[in-house]
Amino acid sequence: MPRILILNGPNLNMLGVREPEIYGTQTLVDIENLCRAKAKELGHEIDFRQSNHEGELVDWIQKARGAYGGIIINAAAYTHTSVAIHDALKIFGGPVVEVHLSDPQTRDPFRHHSYITPLAAAVIAGKGPAGYEEALAFFRRTPSQ
Ligand code: DQA
Repeated sequence: MPRILILNGPNLNMLGVREPEIYGTQTLVDIENLCRAKAKELGHEIDFRQSNHEGELVDWIQKARGAYGGIIINAAAYTHTSVAIHDALKIFGGPVVEVHLSDPQTRDPFRHHSYITPLAAAVIAGKGPAGYEEALAFFRRTPSQ
């Protein structure tokens, strides 16, 4: 059974009240529940976490090495700024799927660059919470995991 770590970056704890016209009305707890149901269906074991702190995300990624078969990450604003998260994901070495609720490519120019994408086996953006389900399904298609 692949064990997958799902990481969420800053301000995603505010989903539901945060710019609903962009991010929708579902809360992070709703998304976690969606992920738990999908993981059960696929036979994955998941850990689902959120932090507003770059260093905490880095710590979790470091500890994931050897402990998880893959990482699903919505690094939120750190997507566009964090060399530290990029470097940690490189150390992790396993498959990484980058998820965004919105599609950063169609938004502000400062959202167009991602430090995660060069390390990602797949990028799923603009599909709302369903993007997390798609990311979980990605691991079903990776027999080595
Ligand atoms: C986001 C997109 C980022 O540009 C933004 O900073 C976020 C959320 C998304 O899920 O669409 O916080 O990662």
